Amino acid sequence: MATKIVAVWGSPSSGKTVTAMKLARELEARKKNVIVICADLFCPALSSLMPGVDVKGRTLGSLLSRPHIKYADVMQAAIPYPKHERIAVIGYKNGDNIFTYSEFLAERVAGFLQELRAAADCVIIDCSSVLTEDGFTTIALQKADKVLRLVSADLKALSYYRSHLPLISRAKFSSSRHIKALSDLKAGQEESTFRSVYGGASYTLPHVKEIERQFYAAELLDSLPGKEARKYNAEIKKAAREVFELE
Ligand SMILES: Nc1ncnc2c1ncn2[C@@H]1O[C@H](COP(=O)(O)OP(=O)(O)O)[C@@H](O)[C@H]1O
Ligand SMILES: [Mg+2]
Repeated sequence: MATKIVAVWGSPSSGKTVTAMKLARELEARKKNVIVICADLFCPALSSLMPGVDVKGRTLGSLLSRPHIKYADVMQAAIPYPKHERIAVIGYKNGDNIFTYSEFLAERVAGFLQELRAAADCVIIDCSSVLTEDGFTTIALQKADKVLRLVSADLKALSYYRSHLPLISRAKFSSSRHIKALSDLKAGQEESTFRSVYGGASYTLPHVKEIERQFYAAELLDSLPGKEARKYNAEIKKAAREVFELE
């Protein structure tokens, strides 16, 4: 199986980080080695995903600041997720912001993404929503094999897409690689209306209360038990299988 790089992109708070981690969990269950790149420099994720883990300078920013990124550099930057030996994370640390690192060169980012293909079976990029200020996410959206675009059933998300889709309308972003998922769908939200507004969605990820608890307890890699999560679990399973083209 060729390594697949999948970018999870969407409006602010659409569930990008949650979805990235739940996909990683599903891939781990299928015995895949996974690297999750937490690319959101506006809300650095390392401390909330793995509190207590000593980052020791291993950040996406310091990796992308190297003149040449080799396979060994990627492996050294990837922080193993505690108790999940098949999952590693590369992201930004507490306190990082857009001034912490110099601007990343497009070819360096492309080289890094190429090295990632050798470093894991599956790569998930948990994108930023702010394309204009985040060179990494913008290039990842161009170079990823597929983009899982999270759309939410509310007017704020719709307004985000009205503003941001024109930014990725050029051919190099090839939006035919985009697969849509209606994310964090809450009771009372009009699924069918928003599905048609967004031009369809391949998956529906319902709101599950336990996810919120897991998010704040840094337990997103735990299972989601109970009847309430049944639909969510089935959709994540299906999305992981189809988007990563697994048997
Ligand atoms: N399916 C879901 N069910 C319940 N809560 C969700 C779901 N998806 C996301 N959330 C919650 O929404 C908030 C934003 O999620 P997050 O993954 O951080 O979004 P993003 O990365 O897009 O900013 C978090 O509090 C998270 O727990
Ligand atoms: Mg996030």
